[in-house]
Amino acid sequence: MAVTTSVHGMWTTRLAFILAATGSAVGLGNIWKFPYIAGENGGGAFVLVYILCVSMIGIPIMMAEILVGRRGRQSPINTMRTLAYEEGRHGFWQLVGWGGVIAGFLIISYYSVIAGWAIAYTFRALGGTFTSLTGETATDLFNALLGDPERLLAWHTIFMVMTIIVISRGVRSGLEQAVRVLMPLLFVLLLVLVGYALTSGRFMDGIEFLFVPDFGALSAGAVITAMGHAFFTLSLGMGAIMMYGSYLPASASIARSSLIIALMDTMVALLAGMAIFPIVFANGLEPEAGPGLVFLTLPIAFGNMPGGLLFGTLFFVLLVFAAWTSAISLIEPAVAWLVENQGIERVRAAVYVGIVAWLLGIVTIMSFSDWAFTFDFAGEAKTGGVFDLLDILTANFMLPLGGLAMALFAGWFMSRESTRDELAMGQGLTYRLWRVMIRYIAPLAVVLVFFNAIGLM
Ligand code: TRP
Repeated sequence: MAVTTSVHGMWTTRLAFILAATGSAVGLGNIWKFPYIAGENGGGAFVLVYILCVSMIGIPIMMAEILVGRRGRQSPINTMRTLAYEEGRHGFWQLVGWGGVIAGFLIISYYSVIAGWAIAYTFRALGGTFTSLTGETATDLFNALLGDPERLLAWHTIFMVMTIIVISRGVRSGLEQAVRVLMPLLFVLLLVLVGYALTSGRFMDGIEFLFVPDFGALSAGAVITAMGHAFFTLSLGMGAIMMYGSYLPASASIARSSLIIALMDTMVALLAGMAIFPIVFANGLEPEAGPGLVFLTLPIAFGNMPGGLLFGTLFFVLLVFAAWTSAISLIEPAVAWLVENQGIERVRAAVYVGIVAWLLGIVTIMSFSDWAFTFDFAGEAKTGGVFDLLDILTANFMLPLGGLAMALFAGWFMSRESTRDELAMGQGLTYRLWRVMIRYIAPLAVVLVFFNAIGLM
């Protein structure tokens, strides 16, 4: 009964899928967001909760998303509708797909602006701007960019055009090759940076901050942020991985792919943290510096290490690529839906979606200057106005809710036969383990974190 191919095309191999999904997962979330939220939320205990959420909630839900996607073989909206119908369930399940499309628009709108910062920093690295940078001058340099909306708009526009171009050609062409080369290179560069951090004199302080948990520093807000980030960093909860799963050949192992993707994603984040925090401490910067953290710290490293011009340029190029391969997965579900339901050609659909996302991005650009305001989230001052609101709304609420819905659908509303068939794990222990995780552990964990956050407990 299951459809064997997608009208939008297919990955050629399982490796191609792993590369694409890793390309989606590894992005600004790992290198830009993880370090700054770990810094804002006190380090070690936050990191531990994040890792727990990735393994207990993230991996089972990733498997659910992939299996649902592969069984439906369409955009998340149509996949959810088709599967709900096949399983004899109510059509409202397609709302999960709609919620995902909306979350995707909201995320890409600010994601593209931050990717624009990375493009700006590529040129700064190349131009030698980082030479002999200190904590203070690095901060000035960053603030000059944030306070210049026109420049931010230019980079945001360039990044959005890059994203539209790849999407219009179809996510399969070129993506595999790009990720295959760039991902290992990104690893190597992160290792170089960790090597520099080793010489900073404060390496162990950085490691301690990141890995020694101080549970006193763990607020309810920190827990919900850690869980939200597990979804964000694995690209879960809005249908991106479901979409990529819809292009996955029937024979590929979903469990093994999910483990590999989650492992690589976590390693990149931890390496980024290990590179950044020693530099924070060695240069009189604050771990709570916020969204600018990676842009304040790594340029100092590049400006003071041998070969820094080359390494710095290469690093920011790779960061832009990592963001690029993530951004396309954020709008592919919307584009695929337009192609499927409105009969719009892919190129045109990509342009429409891109324009809406580009317009929304302007709000984020202005959040850092003219439209800035400060508010409190779970006892923490947020200074990024609408940007922070968008981030909290999507990562902390929409993605976990979307993921919860997918877990419930796969665990309780799809028949055991359907999920077992699709996961192709037989009656074995792994299948039963997954089923316990997806039915009980993951949903309960999400619900408990929410209750905890709204102070019900
Ligand atoms: N995971 C990406 C990152 O860490 C961002 C991303 C891509 C994403 N697709 C997504 C986040 C879907 C949530 C949902 O940078």
